[in-house]
Amino acid sequence: MRLGIIGCGAIGSYIAQEIDKGNVENVVLNVIYDTQVDKAFWLYSSLEKRPVIAESFEEFLKGDIDVVLEAASQEALRAYAFKIIDAGKDLVVMSAGALADDEFRGRLFEYVKRKGRKIYVPSGAVAGLDGLKALSNVKIRSAKLTTRKPPATLGRSLTKPEILFSGSAVDAARLFPQNINVAVALGLAGDMLEKLEVVIIADPKVKSNEHTIEVKSEAGNLKIVLKNVPFPSNPKTSFLAALSCLEILKSIGKNVVIGG
Ligand SMILES: NC(=O)c1ccc[n+]([C@@H]2O[C@H](COP(=O)([O-])OP(=O)(O)OC[C@H]3O[C@@H](n4cnc5c(N)ncnc54)[C@H](O)[C@@H]3O)[C@@H](O)[C@H]2O)c1
Repeated sequence: MRLGIIGCGAIGSYIAQEIDKGNVENVVLNVIYDTQVDKAFWLYSSLEKRPVIAESFEEFLKGDIDVVLEAASQEALRAYAFKIIDAGKDLVVMSAGALADDEFRGRLFEYVKRKGRKIYVPSGAVAGLDGLKALSNVKIRSAKLTTRKPPATLGRSLTKPEILFSGSAVDAARLFPQNINVAVALGLAGDMLEKLEVVIIADPKVKSNEHTIEVKSEAGNLKIVLKNVPFPSNPKTSFLAALSCLEILKSIGKNVVIGG
């Protein structure tokens, strides 16, 4: 599989370096693109097998690519998604928060179907999407995601915990775009984006990015607690998110798929 990466930050760089080390079977990295050219150059120089650096998105799209990894931003996903699908490529989406917009998501998912392409949304910084997908077949009574992060990663300086947000997943994705992709991934997996309640707490006592997922359903209740190690180069991002992206890339094209 020939991969192109948009966004040479924490996740994009990690994936590129894992591919470079030969840790992702059957995947070659052919093109990288970042609006901050220095980021693309830094990544390029850290690799042994060097991809092409695209100077524009248009040049990126002309590259020798089957699958595009978007590891950039919600704006990037909104701007590029249709063009990527139109160019006959599949797409791995990290900025899942952009999919909270019903109109954008509806049009994009319909377009992908019409064009016979695929979109992959990794579990990202959370776990349990397999369980939620299964539960989406029965009645989900309630679903709640409580996210607790060090204040600095939420742009605050606090001495005691403060609830920054309590409301719907859709509003959380709009108001905390870089921090709440997980809510959208969970909401879409459980087909319950409208029902998912989100609480975001800035807590000076925590050192990791913590997520607690609580779901009550006809088929049983689920509670998952995650304490994620922040990524050194971008503490807003959890290491698990990059690993989950890596795992999706490894599973594309596999003959045996476990879980899901
Ligand atoms: N799904 C999840 O659970 C999850 C978890 C963590 C991060 N994310 C999201 O994944 C994305 C990447 O995360 P990251 O930690 O690597 O971010 P990062 O800030 O470290 O890197 C993003 C890179 O993308 C580049 N970029 C931004 N807009 C661009 C555009 N329009 N075109 C080309 N390049 C562009 C930036 O210059 C930057 O170098 C972010 O949107 C983040 O919110 C999702």
